[in-house]
Amino acid sequence: MDRDEKKRAVARAALEFVVPGELVGVGTGSTANAFIDALAGIKGRIDGAVASSEATAARLAGHGIRVVALNAAGDLPLYVDGADEATRHRHLLKGGGGALTREKIVAAAARTFVCVVDDSKLVDRLGRFPLPIEVIPMARGLVARALVGLGGRPERREGFVTDNGNEILDVHGLDVLDPPTLESELNQIAGVVANGLFARRAADVVLVGSADGVERI
Ligand code: A5P
Repeated sequence: MDRDEKKRAVARAALEFVVPGELVGVGTGSTANAFIDALAGIKGRIDGAVASSEATAARLAGHGIRVVALNAAGDLPLYVDGADEATRHRHLLKGGGGALTREKIVAAAARTFVCVVDDSKLVDRLGRFPLPIEVIPMARGLVARALVGLGGRPERREGFVTDNGNEILDVHGLDVLDPPTLESELNQIAGVVANGLFARRAADVVLVGSADGVERI
């Protein structure tokens, strides 16, 4: 079973959490795309979707799924998204696609956050994948120096601008021993918009696709 098949399997499994007649929050990336494709099959049974990025909004619209702005959405029962790394504590590292800030916003707005990953993403400790941090462009140098002070090696994501008009620093070498504490600490650096640790608002459920099937954590 290849990775794409595992992604399609977890995407199908996440449909079980969709509440009929309600909105669905949708993440960004290839696994979230597999979920959008699965959601298209039941689009008549949902009210529409709230997108975490322009790319996701375009894919949803391409399937004829109504896209609703978060400010116009009332209650959001569900958010489904992928991750770059996930632990059995349901802490996540996200932002490889650069959509972390809007993903964090939609996750915060949702009652239930279901994370969908293939088994290559399941780790004992977060941080092998460089941690993405969205920064206000004028603060890039200031934030980078603070990150070096924390033991990280920040690299600017060249040629990339977020949907919010900001830049991304990918931070290598950070020791993520205590994800909720580090998430808060990084948020305190002036100029940081959001960081890719999803630990304070962790996933409620992680679905892991492997050759043996879909495991629910
Ligand atoms: C997007 O910004 C990320 O947070 C994605 O959730 C993450 O990169 C996972 O993407 P894939 O499903 O493509 O691996």
